[in-house]
Amino acid sequence: MHGPLTVLAALLPFTSAQLNTYAKKAGLKYFGAATDSPGQRERAGLEASYNQYDAILRDGNEFGSTTPTNGQKWLFTEPEQGVFNFTEGDIVTSIAQEHGLIQRCHALVWHSQLAPWVDNATADWTPETLSAVIVEHVANVMEHYRGKCYAWDVVNEALDEDGSYRDSVFYRVLGEDFIKLAFRTAAKVEPGVKLYYNDYNIEKPSPKSEGVVRIVRMLQEDGIKIDGVGLQGHFVASRPPTLDEQIATINAYGALGVEVAYTELDVRQTTPVNETSLEWQANAYRDAVGACVQAEACIGVTIWDFYDPFSWVPYTFPGEGAALLWFEDFSKHPAYDAVIEAMRNATVSPCKRRQQRRRAQMAARSAELQ
Ligand SMILES: *[C@@H]1O[C@H](CO)[C@@H](O)[C@H](O)[C@H]1NC(C)=O
Ligand SMILES: *[C@@H]1O[C@H](CO)[C@@H](O)[C@H](O)[C@H]1NC(C)=O
Ligand SMILES: *[C@@H]1O[C@H](CO)[C@@H](O)[C@H](O)[C@H]1NC(C)=O
Ligand SMILES: *[C@@H]1O[C@H](CO)[C@@H](O)[C@H](O)[C@H]1NC(C)=O
Repeated sequence: MHGPLTVLAALLPFTSAQLNTYAKKAGLKYFGAATDSPGQRERAGLEASYNQYDAILRDGNEFGSTTPTNGQKWLFTEPEQGVFNFTEGDIVTSIAQEHGLIQRCHALVWHSQLAPWVDNATADWTPETLSAVIVEHVANVMEHYRGKCYAWDVVNEALDEDGSYRDSVFYRVLGEDFIKLAFRTAAKVEPGVKLYYNDYNIEKPSPKSEGVVRIVRMLQEDGIKIDGVGLQGHFVASRPPTLDEQIATINAYGALGVEVAYTELDVRQTTPVNETSLEWQANAYRDAVGACVQAEACIGVTIWDFYDPFSWVPYTFPGEGAALLWFEDFSKHPAYDAVIEAMRNATVSPCKRRQQRRRAQMAARSAELQ
């Protein structure tokens, strides 16, 4: 039937566009959004908008995947030694289970949001005692979520900006062995789940992205399973990495035989926003998602929540915000259409996309040989 509504729909192709639907058409596994448990949102005094929020999160055409923003972190899951608490993480896991969403699980070994009993200057950890703590934590948390995670961020943010290892209780006591131990343990607990190294500022070629390559190679050379590199993708609207930089970096990781995903994408801007900063933001989102659909190794994109009031940004970077795709009144940012555009672009010609992939692979291989 070709009524006036059909014509209108054709003129406004993006108005009912949906992220996960287009992601799948573009060959990705999912477009996802992280979320916090209602408990945490309640404490932030934001319960008023639950219904509309929850409907969008559960709309499979919009999101095919979710991640608990906080609930699976060490601080929540093992707040005291040997005392495990999965209340917060389970809320998000049950949303994923009930609505058939893929779950990216996050994060096992990380220096931040770590339980104070681990990050304790007076605890006097030895390599033996801290190794036992890591094994116990990884094993118990993964065991609890067995069969419910597509992927685990096994080690999060082990690198400094110059590509050297970050100073943390884990690195001070164990050196880089803490990374090997975490991955080796994770692979033993659940061999079928994808094991990721996850970090920020690793989306363009830099000493830090070389550090990621070094970690992947180190694990592989020791015969330890690593399946993926997670690009957090916390960008600033005025100075994001370019499309080409991101494609080159994804291809460099892909050349090691691992998959890649954007795991925490958001693009913050100075608030209040204006048309210019919203346009910068749209371009930044378009380039990140465009890089993911154009570079073969990239399998999915997760944004770090989807609704501005639930973003971590204003708390961490005062004066900045509006980093996600839905404004406070639930209208969409211009970046939403830019993301759809990047994914539609990739669906136009699968043949052309294959050619691009082949060219990218060859470029990565020849870069590898140099
Ligand atoms: C577990 O965590 C939940 C949510 O943070 C909290 O309400 C509860 O008191 C905790 N349970 C125990 C036994 O500490
Ligand atoms: C830190 O370690 C000391 C010594 O083992 C212990 O007495 C203290 O309770 C620990 N602090 C925390 C927050 O667990
Ligand atoms: C818009 O905001 C940006 C900062 O995000 C600022 O640099 C720019 O001057 C603003 N433009 C206008 C027209 O206010
Ligand atoms: C669309 O795809 C072409 C390659 O086919 C690429 O060069 C261009 O950057 C893409 N545009 C967007 C908006 O993703």
